[in-house]
Amino acid sequence: MIIVLLGPPGAGKGTQARQIQERYGLPQISTGDLFRAAMGSESPLGRSVKDYIESGRLVPDEVTSAVVAERIAQPDCRKGFMLDGFPRTLPQAQALDALLAARRLPLDAVLYFDVTDAVAVERLSGRRTCGRCNANYHVQHMPPKKAGFCDRCGGALTQRPDDQPETIRKRLEVYAQQTRALVAEYDRRGVLYRIASDEAPEKVTASVFAILDKIWARRSRP
Ligand code: AP5
Repeated sequence: MIIVLLGPPGAGKGTQARQIQERYGLPQISTGDLFRAAMGSESPLGRSVKDYIESGRLVPDEVTSAVVAERIAQPDCRKGFMLDGFPRTLPQAQALDALLAARRLPLDAVLYFDVTDAVAVERLSGRRTCGRCNANYHVQHMPPKKAGFCDRCGGALTQRPDDQPETIRKRLEVYAQQTRALVAEYDRRGVLYRIASDEAPEKVTASVFAILDKIWARRSRP
């Protein structure tokens, strides 16, 4: 199964990706996580994307599409994968079409996580991330058991530099200008599923599973 998670910053893509990964065993390919890992290791890729990410702008299409092409060529993607945060522009969507066509693979579904800007801002402002295992929390909606520390590994929780108010505003603006058009594009192709994401996390997960269970069953039929 090959799926794309689409939606504005803070819509809950990463949170739901972890649930999907657990249920269907699909590797999560988050371009944001790949870029942040590259920045952490100070690789040439990390140095080249740093300014874009810290200012809330999109990394150039060619760089992003090359990173995805390399990642989906890994053995763990042979049986399917989930793209979290890619594509975000029409050229990236075309690059994905070409990558899938070269492997004769269909795009099964684009899950569109729909939230208002107000909800997105509130979620991003309260997000805390574990520096060690990358788990996500929210100071109000999904707080850790011990404030400031990860439930899973005990690592310290920090705020992403791009979750500052000014950068959040910029990211939402960039989404409206460059990414929102993909909703209509994938709707036109008949692969878009809208998910009301301003509900509680478990309710959103139930909506996601209801859609993916059907696709999974269809794909597993001989
Ligand atoms: P990326 O890391 O992809 O960030 P994003 O798309 O802005 O998405 P987020 O990770 O901020 O939000 P999310 O939807 O995953 O929400 P989450 O589940 O964490 O990209 C970062 C940067 O990298 C970009 O700005 C760009 O520079 C670059 N980049 C990445 N991909 C690119 C591409 N394709 N092309 C070019 N550049 C690219 O949830 C948010 C918070 O809400 C959490 O605290 C969570 O606990 C809480 N929460 C989640 N769900 C719920 C719920 N249902 N109810 C209450 N709280 C909830």
